[in-house]
Amino acid sequence: ALTTASEDVARLTRWADDFPEPGVRFADLTPVFADAKAFRDVIDALVEVGDGADLVAGIDARGFLLGAGAALALDAGVLAVRKAGKLPPPVLTREYQLEYGTASLEIPADGIELAGRRVLVIDDVLATGGTLAAAADLLTTAGAEVVGIAVVLEIESLGGRSRLAGHPVTSLLRV
Ligand code: PRP
Ligand code: MG
Repeated sequence: ALTTASEDVARLTRWADDFPEPGVRFADLTPVFADAKAFRDVIDALVEVGDGADLVAGIDARGFLLGAGAALALDAGVLAVRKAGKLPPPVLTREYQLEYGTASLEIPADGIELAGRRVLVIDDVLATGGTLAAAADLLTTAGAEVVGIAVVLEIESLGGRSRLAGHPVTSLLRV
């Protein structure tokens, strides 16, 4: 399943130079998600690291699409980890550095019980790892157990995986 998904991703990803900033090479996975077989293959491969998860956390924004698909495949719930300012208070917030700029992620601090939940965290791309480290940290702070982290694409040269130490990390394609 992993090999098939990797091939789909390699074939369909659209690369954009100098977007959204000069010097950044942006991986646009839109064509992967729009292809029925590729989307199915990707979801099947992502959930392999989420064995026993009862909640999938999908990171704003493309992680929402993957997270919802993975949650259905695992028969788990889904949690949208939002960019700052999208959720009503009270929220838990983590600031992080991006490859370009800084940002914050938030999850609700009320309304859902995260203590004891087994969470698979999903995003489209692992670059510097700041985004996924912030998301994992938020969930751990809330009392959840991060059972795995899964991404479609890993930009290995940026070393993001080292910031996710302690969590099983799977990526479908490493570039
Ligand atoms: C991109 C990508 C990942 C993150 C990876 O999101 O979707 O979430 O960067 O980078 P990192 O490993 O260096 O943190 P971005 O923040 O550009 O926002 P978007 O998902 O809303 O497009
Ligand atoms: Mg993102």
